[in-house]
Amino acid sequence: MTRYGFIGTGSMGSMMIRHFIRTDVAVPQDIAACSKTGASARALAAETGITVKDSCRDVAQGADVLFVCVRPLDVHGVLAEIRDVLSHDTLLISIAACVTLEDLTAWSEPGTRCARIIPSVTAEEHSGISLVAWGSRVTPGDKELIFSLFSAIGTPVEIEERHIDVYSDLTSCAPALFASMMQEYAAAAVRKEGVPPALAEYLVRHTLIGTAWLLTGKETGFDDIIRRVATKDGITEEGVNVLRSRLPGVYDELLEATLARHELVMQTIARQGKDN
Ligand SMILES: NC(=O)c1ccc[n+]([C@@H]2O[C@H](COP(=O)([O-])OP(=O)(O)OC[C@H]3O[C@@H](n4cnc5c(N)ncnc54)[C@H](OP(=O)(O)O)[C@@H]3O)[C@@H](O)[C@H]2O)c1
Repeated sequence: MTRYGFIGTGSMGSMMIRHFIRTDVAVPQDIAACSKTGASARALAAETGITVKDSCRDVAQGADVLFVCVRPLDVHGVLAEIRDVLSHDTLLISIAACVTLEDLTAWSEPGTRCARIIPSVTAEEHSGISLVAWGSRVTPGDKELIFSLFSAIGTPVEIEERHIDVYSDLTSCAPALFASMMQEYAAAAVRKEGVPPALAEYLVRHTLIGTAWLLTGKETGFDDIIRRVATKDGITEEGVNVLRSRLPGVYDELLEATLARHELVMQTIARQGKDN
């Protein structure tokens, strides 16, 4: 039996708990959780049957695998609170952006096994990618356990930590970026041709869902879909040409902005480590 602890039951913590239970890779009796105010943890316990604890220390003390699911700037405080109750047998997993394996190692007891996992809201549909970066002390057994958990709610992909920010842009940030792109596409139809906004969104949304299904075909990649729809000298090709001429600059700018933000948060986190 593996005992799981979750510190933080907001959007991501609660999503993971719900879907680990729903996919039978964990049972409620083996999960304990807490949150800052306790309200979200209590609501989740009423829904799923997990145990709520009063403090981070109580959760940490009983956990074989401890998920830290708080916002990046809260990780240091949480680890300071639980540091002395973390057992050497605990596998510590942070899902926070911008908190490095080096930070986690420095803020835990020497010998703690650490890993970073960046999940995505798409796990709610048991799809999409969870990025996994291992600390140096994790064991083959740890890796097997984590892969079995995250394979149940999507596809875990092992990565080198130094690329984690840009990979996160392509995975965990992407649902919001894709939604925003599609929103702008629908908005253009409203602006240019007076299409009713709700209808424009409905049409684009369902076409996006259909396109995603097409992409689940084994042999179907982006190029295949473009080739099938944007036939030579046809109407769609005109649109593809506009996107190909304008979007590289837009995406370069997007990555520059998000990566700069990552850097800023990491600097703040580094200062937290030095101040304490
Ligand atoms: N959102 C995403 O798509 C996404 C994707 C990948 C990774 N992440 C990472 O996931 C982490 C959590 O994000 P989120 O969207 O789930 O945030 P969130 O909804 O704001 O949840 C944060 C949770 O942390 C709890 N918390 C804060 N301080 C605490 C403390 N001292 N002790 C115990 N619990 C504490 C909060 O408690 P209350 O409920 O009482 O307020 C809340 O349950 C972030 O670090 C983020 O980088 C997010």
